[in-house]
Amino acid sequence: MDVTDALNSRYSTRAFKPDQVDKENITRILEAATRAPSWGNTQPWEIFVAGGDVLDRLRNAYLENYHKDVPGRSDLPRPLQWPPALQKRMEELGAERFRTAGIKRDDKAARQTIFEANYRFFGAPAVIYLCMDHSLTPWSIFDIGMLAQSIMLEAQQYGLGSIPAYNLVSYPDIIRKELEIPDDLSIIIGIALGYSDAQHPQNKFRSPRRPIQEVVRFGGL
Ligand SMILES: Cc1cc2nc3c(=O)[nH]c(=O)nc-3n(C[C@H](O)[C@H](O)[C@H](O)COP(=O)(O)O)c2cc1C
Repeated sequence: MDVTDALNSRYSTRAFKPDQVDKENITRILEAATRAPSWGNTQPWEIFVAGGDVLDRLRNAYLENYHKDVPGRSDLPRPLQWPPALQKRMEELGAERFRTAGIKRDDKAARQTIFEANYRFFGAPAVIYLCMDHSLTPWSIFDIGMLAQSIMLEAQQYGLGSIPAYNLVSYPDIIRKELEIPDDLSIIIGIALGYSDAQHPQNKFRSPRRPIQEVVRFGGL
């Protein structure tokens, strides 16, 4: 798969098959992905991977919190407010996702199921948590972001789908306890990994992008 194909074919998988992912393959994916650049080659990432009974326990604890309406509190704070244009894109994304899945606005039960899927980790057999020392600045989060995309692109080489998700790290205390993540590490993002259930309605949706003419301003070219 060439780079352009990998970039164009990746999408956020929101329904995984239950098939396990080989630990060897996860290791190879992470080995390739950690070729990502970082400030001064600091490689700020510490990576924790959950699967099997560990992931089952995490999932159960997440679902319990979700059903008790425990508010999420990620180590990295969420923006209190998004700039209006970004907020609009987010709302359009949600509406379009539901439309593609054939879910009506007033179908509360179906909407609930889709939201709950976040806390089921979308049925993924493995979740990769990317962490870094809590004293670091957004420059290192930039490095973590490049690692995250590298993981997701390389995963495709193994026929694996993925999704990076805030909701995977919304209860850091649960993850920290289960994976024995030290307190001085911030849990930045989770990436669910597994074989995509391509026929699932949630995986039919492809998110749009702003036209490049709107995004890019050239100077001197
Ligand atoms: C930092 C980050 C957090 C995200 N959190 C969630 C999430 O909690 N739940 C979810 O369904 N998708 C989540 N996503 C996936 C985005 O919605 C998705 O990347 C975006 O809509 C673009 O779609 P694509 O990944 O299919 O190209 C997140 C993505 C990123 C990069």
